[in-house]
Amino acid sequence: MHGNLIQHDSGGNGTPSVSALDSADYPRHRWYFFKEAFSPEIVNHAIKDAKIRKGALVVDPFCGSGTVPLQAALNGYRGHGIEVNPFLAFVARTKLATCSIQAFDTALGKVKAGAKRGAKSPLEGFSTFSWKCGAKRWLFNRPVLRAFEGGWRVASRENGPAFSLVKLCLLEAAMSACNAAKDGKCLRYKHDWKNLHLSQSDFSEALDVRAALVRADLKAEARLNGHFRIQQGDVRTKELPERFNLCITSPPYLNSFDYTDVYRPELFLGNFVTSMPQLMRLRLRTLRSHVQVSWPAASEHQYGTHYAESLRLILARKKRLWDRRIPDMIKAYFEDMELVLKALRRKAAPTASAWIVVSTSAYAGVEIPVDLIIADIASACGWYLREVNVLRYLGRLAGQQWNELSRAKDSKPHLRESVIILDATARR
Ligand SMILES: C[S@@+](CC[C@H](N)C(=O)[O-])C[C@H]1O[C@@H](n2cnc3c(N)ncnc32)[C@H](O)[C@@H]1O
Repeated sequence: MHGNLIQHDSGGNGTPSVSALDSADYPRHRWYFFKEAFSPEIVNHAIKDAKIRKGALVVDPFCGSGTVPLQAALNGYRGHGIEVNPFLAFVARTKLATCSIQAFDTALGKVKAGAKRGAKSPLEGFSTFSWKCGAKRWLFNRPVLRAFEGGWRVASRENGPAFSLVKLCLLEAAMSACNAAKDGKCLRYKHDWKNLHLSQSDFSEALDVRAALVRADLKAEARLNGHFRIQQGDVRTKELPERFNLCITSPPYLNSFDYTDVYRPELFLGNFVTSMPQLMRLRLRTLRSHVQVSWPAASEHQYGTHYAESLRLILARKKRLWDRRIPDMIKAYFEDMELVLKALRRKAAPTASAWIVVSTSAYAGVEIPVDLIIADIASACGWYLREVNVLRYLGRLAGQQWNELSRAKDSKPHLRESVIILDATARR
């Protein structure tokens, strides 16, 4: 039982916010807005707490847009990230790239000329990417897609960090000139999108705005102090190259959010995937935290009383679940997390610690204490649990989850986001 170890963060221990929103204020972090990123402040906080020496290895096995390796490298440490999604691995790597202002301006000039000429995109007529006969909705108006493609082709013919940086700007610009925007678990069409007539000039303006931001950050700070590496792949099959001193990570939450789906436009625009079967293969390599694909079934496990009780309650309400595979997803999620926690423990230096940010989830009105279950699993894998610290309570949830849970919990926001802090060696 770890329930009594939960601490409410009232500012006492100063654990910072986890929200991605303040990343927009941080140089480099703001080069691509990733809503699911956490704040660089939590990285600073964990580094300070760990008292590690400069040059120590800081890892994130679910590095997403690279907040952890970037912030570690900015502070003079070695950052190592693993990320399964090739688009996000590209974002993480590129946020860590450095080049001269002159090289950036030259690359940008060439790419802008390509965007102005435009080029026929392979995505025209594919899926919902552009208008086709009979389509009611499409993500990009053809002039936007062609301007993007013209620029992307020029950038892809060249090598080097300056062109990668411009590619990142191209992707951001295309997404701001997209007819839909990310909204929670899906892409939602913008209000009155047909009358917005998003055009090549909207795309070009957005490109200029993004490029100005990158340019300003490059100008302000010449280079990173530390080193970094981003490995693209499935953390369940990748071994960290050496022992680490600090792990700061946020795995996908147990909330059926499929990153491959929400970031599908970027995956296809940047040729990170080129067909639906390839997208499906990528999905199968993601942590089993959603029901979008048919996973291999998980085994039966004893992960402690929190796990057993949650599963019992969920199974009792099986008929009220919005998808019958949810109980299997829950089992598979914790099986995957056990694998990751074991692998991390094997590679932890004797003085290492691990900070894991997760949120609880709810299905059919049953709240699953993901933080406490992970703490139980980690303890069984050889980690010492230091604390489970509540960072914030989450506000109103979408649709059915909220309706069910609010009835059960007096309409109060109840799901929490927590950080689980683990040590490789017991603290005295
Ligand atoms: C909550 S996000 C991490 C965000 C990150 N902390 C940041 O600041 O950008 C979780 C990430 O785990 C990645 N992921 C999912 N399954 C994975 C797997 N099997 N191996 C590695 N990464 C995976 C997702 O693509 C997603 O980017």
